[in-house]
Amino acid sequence: MAGNAYGWKNNTPPEAAVSALLSPAESLAGRDLCSIADLSAAEMAAILELAHDIKAKPKEYRYSLDAKQMVMFFEKASLRTRLTFEAGINTMGGSAIFVDQTQSPLGERESLADIARNLERWVSLIVLRTYAHETITEMAEHARVPVINALSDQEHPCQALADFMTLEERFGNLRGLKFVYVGDGNNVCHSLMLTAALLGAHFTAASPKGYGPKPELAAQARRIAEQTAASVTLTQDAAAAATGADAIYTDVCTSMGFEHEATKRAPIFKPYQVNEALMARAATHAVFLHCLPAHRNAEVTDAVFDGPQSMVFEQAENRMHAQKALMALLLGGRR
Ligand code: CP
Ligand code: NVA
Repeated sequence: MAGNAYGWKNNTPPEAAVSALLSPAESLAGRDLCSIADLSAAEMAAILELAHDIKAKPKEYRYSLDAKQMVMFFEKASLRTRLTFEAGINTMGGSAIFVDQTQSPLGERESLADIARNLERWVSLIVLRTYAHETITEMAEHARVPVINALSDQEHPCQALADFMTLEERFGNLRGLKFVYVGDGNNVCHSLMLTAALLGAHFTAASPKGYGPKPELAAQARRIAEQTAASVTLTQDAAAAATGADAIYTDVCTSMGFEHEATKRAPIFKPYQVNEALMARAATHAVFLHCLPAHRNAEVTDAVFDGPQSMVFEQAENRMHAQKALMALLLGGRR
């Protein structure tokens, strides 16, 4: 498809022959991020490398997205994602328009394809937080500007980028890292599992029966893991999973959109609480991670959340740096 006034869109990863001629950073220009698995291992490494540099030298990127406009449609509540995207683009010379979509789903008043064909004429970037993952993939299919998944029912790729950036700061290279996710096999879990596989880490999810990650996403992560010497393990035994872990991660038992199940889920998830006893099974250098918001003393105790192993606010900070790198690369921004 022809480009628009703001550039061009390359919806699919380049053919292998073309890709070989491009650096991983160049190959990201014009692309979407619907799933974290849209990225190759090299492209993920390029995003994380740039994120570390932007965090260290933000002034050098002050005009990287000069005059770029981003629109954000959110069907669900947000603190971190909205503000880190807005602060991020503002500090690179661009600007953001936020549309509260919590009262009516995207696509209700007008088709997603028609919305896409409007948006691409006004803005350089579309950021969506939705219930249905397909809302994001459909927008990406029709829009000639990049589309970023800011959380869907299936994935939260921006969260995973920030989390693995945080782990790189602490541990350096993450090959062989023992990453243990305890709790609901939800959107955050899916993106973490795929990211761990791409980076060559050992991923384990310990979830109650019937609440593990989706089998098709676990299968996808395992296919990636075969290429990177990573591993993907699914279990119901949180104590065994936590033993020797380098990082223990949890998220809420009841994600947005599942509130009607909260009462049913609470007792099922009780044995999966991350508390001092569970952390004691991990390596002595282990860190605790949570995407936030947390329900204190439900999925994690205050002692762990506020304790010395917790990196939850480093993760929250890194949302901004990781997304700045992502935006810069998708929009072909230069220093
Ligand atoms: N972690 C995260 O995405 O937070 P928000 O829901 O506040 O954006
Ligand atoms: N799994 C949570 C993450 C919130 C950032 C949810 O979808 O509500």
